[in-house]
Amino acid sequence: MTARGRGAAVCVQPPTKGRPLKNLFGSVKRAAALGAVTLAAVSLQPVSTAVAQDPTPSPAIVGGTPAEEGEFPFMVRLSMGCGGSLYAEDIVLTAAHCVDGSGPDTSITATAGSVDLESSDAVSVNSTEVLQAPGYDGNGKDWALIKLEQPLDLPTLNIADTDAYNEGDFTVAGWGADKEGGDQQRYLLKATVPFVDDAACGEAYGDSLIPGEEICAGFEEGGTDSCQGDSGGPMFRKDDSDQWVQVGIVSWGQGCARPGYPGVYAEVSAFAEDISKAAAEL
Ligand code: ARG
Repeated sequence: MTARGRGAAVCVQPPTKGRPLKNLFGSVKRAAALGAVTLAAVSLQPVSTAVAQDPTPSPAIVGGTPAEEGEFPFMVRLSMGCGGSLYAEDIVLTAAHCVDGSGPDTSITATAGSVDLESSDAVSVNSTEVLQAPGYDGNGKDWALIKLEQPLDLPTLNIADTDAYNEGDFTVAGWGADKEGGDQQRYLLKATVPFVDDAACGEAYGDSLIPGEEICAGFEEGGTDSCQGDSGGPMFRKDDSDQWVQVGIVSWGQGCARPGYPGVYAEVSAFAEDISKAAAEL
């Protein structure tokens, strides 16, 4: 894995802006803040592809519990250390900050089909092409599509194409860290986090939050959150037909599960049209 690739996967958030560092570094210039990303405590540990071996996983995402086998069959683990969701049988939706631009790319392996990454039921497929959100510059627009070499015979996850589902309680799942600086997980973890409106989220993150492109979730008291390595994975809820619908993509936050700092997610409904057009051309 290249340093660049790993950095992309770990990022606390799109790294060019260093938003989560703001509170710690105040007026530090962006270039300096970017350098500080690798040093600062808030940047957390690089995502390793090694996973915790313990067959009885400790509660994680942060503050979560193990997902049941088959509960979220659309969940995908990506080899650069990110999550994703099956948008189509041969297309994974993930975060822009998890990939390195657009174009042909056979370097990514997508694993799905089991909560246990080492299960014989888990299937791995290579990528053929990546489409990073057009105009992505490290702020907002944190979505990307990965085309797979072969379709996976698994259920897909619908994306929200209206903001009607940007409320209530959400489920977030992933194989990422179970605490700041914690290990990546072998078994999929899930947690429930409540919607946080832009005004409340802006109190935590100020101008770093892009309200039209980002949606926040978490408890005021912290304790439950997505974390490093969950990036690119879906935040979802039930729609009016009792089907899962994706409302967010794990993007960034100040640390993980800290009181007063909700998780920030790409606002899927804002990009639904762009995503479906891009998928049709991929
Ligand atoms: N950027 C991180 C990653 O690459 C995800 C951070 C999510 N943070 C949070 N507090 N919800 O995995």
